[in-house]
Amino acid sequence: MSLLSTTPMLEKAKKNNHGIVAFNVHSFDSIFWVLEAASELKSPVILQTTVGTVQSLGAKNIVEVVKAASEHYKVPTGLHLDHCTDYEVIKEAIRAGYTSVMIDASMHPFEENVRQTKQVVDLAKSLGVNIEAELGKVGGVEDDIVVSEKDAQKAVPAECKKFIELTGVPTFAPAIGTAHGIYKGDPDIDFERIAEIAELIDVPLVLHGGSGISDEDIRRCVSLGMAKVNVSTELKNAYSIAIREHFENAPDSLDPRAYLQNAKEAAKVMVKSKIQMVGSEGKVVPSFV
Ligand code: 13P
Repeated sequence: MSLLSTTPMLEKAKKNNHGIVAFNVHSFDSIFWVLEAASELKSPVILQTTVGTVQSLGAKNIVEVVKAASEHYKVPTGLHLDHCTDYEVIKEAIRAGYTSVMIDASMHPFEENVRQTKQVVDLAKSLGVNIEAELGKVGGVEDDIVVSEKDAQKAVPAECKKFIELTGVPTFAPAIGTAHGIYKGDPDIDFERIAEIAELIDVPLVLHGGSGISDEDIRRCVSLGMAKVNVSTELKNAYSIAIREHFENAPDSLDPRAYLQNAKEAAKVMVKSKIQMVGSEGKVVPSFV
């Protein structure tokens, strides 16, 4: 079973009024945990890795493991490169078999963001690989990309429309008030802005900073056109805490299968709750299984 391009996955989700969660995975084990949980809920899913994870695990290894696991669990799976600023790493990921890449040139002026995005669209689209780009600046920390609260900037709807026209990018992440990482206060999600952007452009939208947002707000974002919902912090925190608790209770434990079992259970609970939030449970078509 091959990995799926996330363009049709997300277009279909948008049409059917549900979202698909893109979970950041940081280790080979976590790939299996996410897919096992998705398979138990019969949900399509996207796995994504940052550039840091590509550097630590290797693009080719990640692709091979994700392919094997998606086949084992019979889950329609897309594999996405998250927040990449480097064209060479994008090429490496595509060559290895990633089915979606994000070119993040959101730190540059509009014209330069358009130029870099267009360059990746020209490379990836003909190969059937999805492309994601960002406009505005999502605050917070995602691996090496750090955007302070004062530098975070919401996307301007008219510019979003122009950006899509100029780049032809098939999935689009406008900054609308969410942030990567743990929120200090309540997230300031600009629902009106999402609605305005969705009115102007047709492509599936992407919600970055999906951790720490209430069920109700995630559902509202999805209903407004946010077809891809990114979750990283809450997932890695859930299983890291489970491992910490394991060692608090059993400081002399030396069996990885014991502490990783606790991690897996915590990860699966988190994955299932997010899948249920975006409404993708049961969306695997019977012919796929
Ligand atoms: P969180 O870490 O806030 O879940 O954000 C994930 C994300 O948007 C990855 O691009």
